[in-house]
Amino acid sequence: MTDWDIAELGPHDRQAVTDACRLADAILGRGMFAAEQVLEDLRGGKLLFLTAYAGEPSALVGMATARVLDDDGYRELVAPMPPGTLPAAPPSAGDRRIGRLNAMAVTAPMRGRGLGSALAAYRTEWLRERCTEAYVISWLHNGQGRSDGLLQALGWRPVTVLHDYWLPATTTGDHSCPQCGRPCHCPSLLLRLSGH
Ligand SMILES: CC(C)(COP(=O)(O)OP(=O)(O)OC[C@H]1O[C@@H](n2cnc3c(N)ncnc32)[C@H](O)[C@@H]1OP(=O)(O)O)[C@@H](O)C(=O)NCCC(=O)NCCS
Repeated sequence: MTDWDIAELGPHDRQAVTDACRLADAILGRGMFAAEQVLEDLRGGKLLFLTAYAGEPSALVGMATARVLDDDGYRELVAPMPPGTLPAAPPSAGDRRIGRLNAMAVTAPMRGRGLGSALAAYRTEWLRERCTEAYVISWLHNGQGRSDGLLQALGWRPVTVLHDYWLPATTTGDHSCPQCGRPCHCPSLLLRLSGH
């Protein structure tokens, strides 16, 4: 039995998107999402934005996203990696539909009960239906509550450990790491999901 509800947000859920962006800022670091950009992406239909609620009265306890990448999104994914880690050719150059799990955060008191796995399973299925392959950069922070184990349990396979993946985002970009601030030197694990 689960003690949470998962909702798929749409372009009219302005307040819920704003609250979820605030949750992401608190857990994943400032500047990860901008609500206006999220609403615009939801209108485009290529973004999956999930929120999870629990308790009485119901409170936001988790958020997670996934998207089908256009060429710019793929370039953004690959740019901070050492050359050759993933093919440089964008999806439009071949018959590839590439997906990405972007972010996942669960409030500390709710962790370890399966909510993160449920959010990851929902998004994995969504990507499997739409993509020929998908990627995720799992944050290897040194605290409790990492995503690499539960992702592997869902069929995601490790590709390589990346160093300083978030260095550009935390120097020239707006992002700030909750662990190291700016700049971020956390390692991360690149994982891959094969589509149908
Ligand atoms: C990563 C995160 C979203 C996971 O959320 P969660 O709700 O704790 O996830 P789950 O409960 O499904 O899984 C966590 C662990 O508990 C285990 N677990 C799940 N349900 C369980 C249960 N009923 N009983 C015992 N263990 C359980 C899982 O197997 C998993 O173990 P693992 O880490 O060894 O693989 C959360 O820890 C978080 O927000 N972390 C900080 C931000 C972060 O790192 N986000 C990911 C960025 S890539």
